[in-house]
Parts: sequence; C-alpha cells; structure tokens
Amino acid sequence: MRIVHCRQLGPPESLVLEDVAPPELGPGQVRIGVKAAGVNYPDNLIIQGLYQMRPALPFAPGSEVAGVILEVAPGVTRLSVGDRVCAFTGYGGFAEQVCVDAARVVPIPADMPWDVAAGFTVVYATTWFALNERARLQPGETLLVLGAAGGVGLAAVQLGKAMGARVIAAAGSDHKLELTAAHGADEGINYRAHDLDSRLRAVAPHGLDVVYDPVGGDSTNVALKRMAWNGRLLVVGFASGEIPAIKANLVLLKNCQVMGVHWGVSVDRDPNGHAEAMAALFERWTQGALAPLVSEAMPLEEAPAALRALRDRRAVGKLVLTV
Ligand SMILES: NC(=O)c1ccc[n+]([C@@H]2O[C@H](COP(=O)([O-])OP(=O)(O)OC[C@H]3O[C@@H](n4cnc5c(N)ncnc54)[C@H](OP(=O)(O)O)[C@@H]3O)[C@@H](O)[C@H]2O)c1
Repeated sequence: MRIVHCRQLGPPESLVLEDVAPPELGPGQVRIGVKAAGVNYPDNLIIQGLYQMRPALPFAPGSEVAGVILEVAPGVTRLSVGDRVCAFTGYGGFAEQVCVDAARVVPIPADMPWDVAAGFTVVYATTWFALNERARLQPGETLLVLGAAGGVGLAAVQLGKAMGARVIAAAGSDHKLELTAAHGADEGINYRAHDLDSRLRAVAPHGLDVVYDPVGGDSTNVALKRMAWNGRLLVVGFASGEIPAIKANLVLLKNCQVMGVHWGVSVDRDPNGHAEAMAALFERWTQGALAPLVSEAMPLEEAPAALRALRDRRAVGKLVLTV
C-alpha cells in the first residue's frame, strides 16, 4: 500500500511517498481502507518531533481518516466489515490503510461525502468538547473565536452560533473574515490590521463570556483582559508558535476560569462520551446546522503541499487528502 512516510524528522519536504506492506491488525482494532484523510495543524508538529506524541520512525502523519472497514479484530462487535466510518487515528492516516482502536471509530451518515467525513472528527469533536463540556456555553453569551477561519476556529464559529451565542470572529485577513461571516459570525476583527484590544472594547463592551483560543501568543492575554465576570478561557492550541504566560492577576480580577482542552486524550478516557458527541454532531450536520468547509482536496502524494499551506497560514477551513 502507499503511505506518506516520515523517515527523518523535519519539514513537510522531508516526507516520502512509499509502497509498503499493510500494517498488522492489533487486538481491539479495525482495519480501514482510507478514502480521505484530514490535514491538521499538529501533523506539522509531529513530523518535526515537536508534538506531545512522538511515534517511532518511520511513521505516517495523519490524525483522522474516513473510509471503509476491511477487517475487524476478534471481539469487536460494534463495527463490521463494509461499514463507512471516520476515525481519530492520532497519526498514520496519510496511507491507503490504517489500523485503529475500535473505540476511536464511528460510523458516518450514509450521505456524508468522504472528504467532509475525513475532516470532521478533529475539528468538530474538539470544539464540541470545548464549548459544551468544558465551558458550558449558554445561549446569549458572547464567544470570541481566535484563528476563526482555520480548522477548529471555523468549527467553533458554526457550533457557537448553533448553540445560540453571539460570535465574534478574529482572523488574520479580511478575506478570512468574509468567510467567518458567511459561516455565521456576528462580528469580525482583523487582528493583523487592527488592535485587538480596542476592537474588542468596541464590539464587546460588556466583556467576553467565553474565549476559544487555538492561537496563543499575545492574543491570549489581550482576550483575558476583555473577559466578562465568570468568563471562561479555553486553551485549545498555540498555532502562533508561542505558548503565552497567563497573567494570573487578570484571572483574579475577572473572576474567570482558564480551561485546558485536551480532546484527544478525552476520547481514550471516555470512548462512550466520544461516540455520543459524534452522534450529536452528525445529527446537527444532517439537519443542516453545521456546514463543514473543505476548501481543498488534494491527492495523497501532495501531503507536503497541504502541510505547507497550514504552516504558512494560507489554508481556510479544512484541507483533505484523497486516496
Ligand atoms: N486541544 C485540542 O484538543 C486540539 C485539537 C485540535 C487542534 N488543536 C490545536 O488547535 C490549533 C489549530 O489547529 P487547526 O488544525 O485548526 O489549524 P489551522 O487550520 O492551521 O488553523 C490555525 C489558525 O491559527 C492562525 N494562526 C495564527 N498564527 C499562526 C501561525 N504563525 N501559523 C499558523 N497559523 C497561525 C491562523 O489564522 P489567522 O491567519 O487568521 O491568524 C490559522 O487559521 C493548533 O495549535 C492545534 O494543535 C488542539
């Protein structure tokens, strides 16, 4: 089978497309014939050895896939050969086949296209976990989404609206803000062209109830400064490359909470919760309440180009690789 291998840690250009024997099926796993794989920011980190997870070389990046089940390990009863599924793989998804723990695999709606399913799990399940289970976002609350046109960001704009919040999208270009507005954002702030602090004062004079932060860097403490009483700051990621030092005096003054969001580990700690979250998300997709944006689908061999687009801040919504 074809696989995009990381044989030595480095930038996207160091990945190589190879033909290898399919992986062995482990206990409790299913084998998936991959139709498409979602591309995520952490894929760039894992190939450089900069992610919390460090697989042994060689490995394929690719933290989520959609495809058809080809084989099921003894004892796995919830899934069958032929099922159309999506899966959180962690890594290994940029390949024609991948073996995954059954607890990380869920059947997809019959009419969901492969590219949509491939880019669905990570962004929507992370955001559901963050807004629903961690922050308990309420209708009428004000939600600020940083990096709002990216993968998890655009999912947060959509889910925030679907949950009845007033959504302020912050992104790095006017083009990206047009996109967030088209996906339901009530306000937009170009934080590369304008001062985030003064714009937040203007559009959220009563403060921010929830901040969804996949970016980090300077923006985090600016958002914290504009937090409302009892606000919740969701620490989702550090796409800016900078892990901010949180100003504890602001946490005290705003009487607010800083909440870690470690969705990937939550899937393994609570597989039933993950299955329930995915079912709720698929229901919303079926009803038309979520509109996933796959901005580009590229063939598997173009994995380096897809990873470069994310790294260089050019991507919007989701990029997927088709197999
Ligand atoms: N906690 C969890 O469980 C979890 C789950 C999934 C992802 N994440 C994290 O969430 C973050 C976003 O992931 P993603 O897959 O949504 O990425 P993405 O699609 O590339 O979006 C990231 C966004 O961050 C902004 N950004 C600001 N500075 C950047 C920089 N120097 N380089 C690249 N982007 C920059 C970009 O928007 P602008 O240009 O508009 O600023 C971009 O749209 C990552 O840190 C990832 O590790 C966490």
